[in-house]
Amino acid sequence: MKSDRKTAEWQRIDAAHHIHPFTSLQVFDKEGARVFVRGEGLELEDSEGHRFIDAMAGLWCVQVGYGRRELADAAHAQMLELAYYNTFFKTSTQPVAELSEKLASLTPPGLDHFMFANSGSEAVDTAVRLIRHFWNLEGRPEKKVIISRELGYHGSTLAAASVGGWSSMHAHGDLPLPGFEHVMPPYWYVHGGELSPEEFGVVAAGAIEQKILEVGPERVAAFFGEPLMGAGGVIVPPSTYWPEVQRICRKYDVLLVADEVICGFGRTGTWWGSETYGIEPDLMTMAKGITSGYLPLSALALGPRVAGTIMQGDFAHGFTYSGHPTAAAVALANIRILEEEGIVERVGNDTGPYLQEELQLALGDHPLVGEVRGRGLLAAVELVEDKQTRKRFEADRKVGEFCWDRCLENGLIPRAIGDVIALSPPLVAVRSDIDEIVRRLVAGIDKTAEHLRSGGWKA
Ligand SMILES: Cc1ncc(COP(=O)(O)O)c(C=O)c1O
Repeated sequence: MKSDRKTAEWQRIDAAHHIHPFTSLQVFDKEGARVFVRGEGLELEDSEGHRFIDAMAGLWCVQVGYGRRELADAAHAQMLELAYYNTFFKTSTQPVAELSEKLASLTPPGLDHFMFANSGSEAVDTAVRLIRHFWNLEGRPEKKVIISRELGYHGSTLAAASVGGWSSMHAHGDLPLPGFEHVMPPYWYVHGGELSPEEFGVVAAGAIEQKILEVGPERVAAFFGEPLMGAGGVIVPPSTYWPEVQRICRKYDVLLVADEVICGFGRTGTWWGSETYGIEPDLMTMAKGITSGYLPLSALALGPRVAGTIMQGDFAHGFTYSGHPTAAAVALANIRILEEEGIVERVGNDTGPYLQEELQLALGDHPLVGEVRGRGLLAAVELVEDKQTRKRFEADRKVGEFCWDRCLENGLIPRAIGDVIALSPPLVAVRSDIDEIVRRLVAGIDKTAEHLRSGGWKA
């Protein structure tokens, strides 16, 4: 967008009229927003000409990097041909039909039917409503309770935030709604104690079984989980966790929903987190990487059992923009790039393992780093006060935020989730990009450690 306005003017009008998500509005009012103006590949530029490597791919979504002409061309061509039409009342459009076919070929076997929406939250919300409808149609209307994990993030609508396990979100808007239950996440570093990760994986899955028995299996509708929990702190499940979760869900006839909003489209080194962890979900939600964030689009994939029942009748649900043709055309162009450039395979075989190894090498022994973890191009380092005892910093010291600021000064954008520093770079990152990301991250962590050592803590 071309304009003669200066940064201070953008910040002023933005602070005056724009309420930002997940932002402390009082602090923000004083500091003003960083205004981004341009993106190319992995790089972003702000209105002051500062350049950054975006090691978060926006919000875990810009798989193919910024500035891809193919996606702009696809949107342009579709807008001129047919910018919008809906999919209600026995109508469809070519892009959405083709995208449905394409997704059916990419998703795990059996997940062959798709409902579209605009965001991950809407896809999760749709799943909750669909599951309630499903059990009613099955003649089991008492089966309504949904189980998910503490720290899980599934979005911001009433239902999605209720599925989510963030107490900070529950506090805003009197959530969770009735009928949503939360159990311990498979967070070995924090909850594992003396157990090996494998032993702990079975214990964490066991928490789901305990909750099912507490609620009564006849009342439990579904279990929702991200294959690898992203926004909750890049929590990598031990290898024993998902097989056990799956066994428990099958035993008590509880639908298994994989929230693939972050993991989908190659993030963990295969097309789906479900593929990486051997999960066979009944339903899958996806968004973000479906268009690399170029336009809003999400989908809910239905497996044969749920689709078979739902398709006996109808489901009074949908949005004006369910299956928006321009977003669908961009998704098709985005998937074409992922396929033609072999990006997902590269993340799985090369850049993903390379990122994990380089982080481990550079930071595994760092005194401020308790754990380095991740899978594919999704990674995190957990900053701790005492590496030996795994003691964490008091939250109000905001060590992670301090480190995040130091990284930004160094031209790197990671994300601070408390004291977990997360990385989720565009999937087009090559080894030299990863080297630079790791180098800048180490510099940010070193500066944080130096600050702590010098006792100059004023965060
Ligand atoms: C796993 C997961 N589910 C759902 C959502 C919500 O997606 P959206 O922000 O597009 O509504 C997110 C967003 O980060 C997510 O990470």
